[in-house]
Amino acid sequence: MRRALNEELDAAKPRGLGEAAARLSARYRSSATDRPRSFIQSDEDALAYAAYRLPATYAGVAAALAAVQRISPGLLPSSVLDIGAGPGTAAWAAVETFPRLETVSLVEPDLRMAALGKRLAQYGPPPLRLARWEQSNIEELPTGPTADLVIAAYVLGEIDEGRRTEVLQKLISLAGRLLVLVEPGTPFGYSVILSARAQLLDAGRSVVAPCPHDDACPMAGSDWCHFSVRLPRSRIHRQLKAGSLSYEDEKFSYVAVAPEPPRRGYSRIVRHPTTRTAMIRLELCAPQGLRTEVVTKRDKAAFRDARDVRWGDEWPVIDFSKPRVDES
Ligand SMILES: C[S@@+](CC[C@H](N)C(=O)[O-])C[C@H]1O[C@@H](n2cnc3c(N)ncnc32)[C@H](O)[C@@H]1O
Repeated sequence: MRRALNEELDAAKPRGLGEAAARLSARYRSSATDRPRSFIQSDEDALAYAAYRLPATYAGVAAALAAVQRISPGLLPSSVLDIGAGPGTAAWAAVETFPRLETVSLVEPDLRMAALGKRLAQYGPPPLRLARWEQSNIEELPTGPTADLVIAAYVLGEIDEGRRTEVLQKLISLAGRLLVLVEPGTPFGYSVILSARAQLLDAGRSVVAPCPHDDACPMAGSDWCHFSVRLPRSRIHRQLKAGSLSYEDEKFSYVAVAPEPPRRGYSRIVRHPTTRTAMIRLELCAPQGLRTEVVTKRDKAAFRDARDVRWGDEWPVIDFSKPRVDES
């Protein structure tokens, strides 16, 4: 995907990318209600989105799909539908996570985004090169299962709040086996995921990831559930963000649901683990709610494991009624 993007940017030698990226950046900083309806006004805008956001949204989606795969390794979709595909971000993440995917479909109303996505896809594996693109809003799609895996990445929050319930109903009907929603890891993005999660549970779906349960989110009201993935910034991204860091941290919130509950038995690490010389502190969303576990060097195997885990990973479920480690 990075190679495809670099080739495209090198070939297009876009002028005005800096201004377009600045407009985009201002848009992302503006509150959801102040945002313009469409921010893609030109080919430069579409390229700026790809240069400025695509690697990060790709990383967020890929991290969410990786968690799904760890929880349900037997879930091997053979078809994916990427809704609000933009330049095809989620489809790229899906084909790279699920090598058995045979059929890729993408729905994107914006002509310029779709044109860019089609060009990028030509650098991808066969299912992407042969993908079916539809220029449409989700509201216009017929209902009924269309693909094993349906992904709406960074889309739901763009849709008016009053229409989200109906759009989500459509997404539920389209997803044969797995529906994945990803949003920015902001309080607003989380609020979109939180209400979607409630509607999905009401519709009889079970959470595959990130939650280790189908109960109410224990973070609601006091915090927001989000994760972070670090990615290197490309040369062009560094130019656009003059003189800034060589990496960025993409914060994202997500929920993946299926008709059947997955095999459970883990907690989710919901903060960066904090490491001291002889102990590692893990903040967990456990089946019983939010918990803290302090792993000390005395518990050699757990300490070894804890050194390798990251925010967003699973952690084996602990019987919290019998603390395994001395937290004093
Ligand atoms: C922020 S971009 C996300 C693009 C891509 N999914 C990603 O993660 O990089 C949101 C995309 O959703 C599309 N979109 C907005 N409203 C939509 C709708 N009602 N139905 C389908 N797509 C929509 C926009 O055209 C835009 O390309």
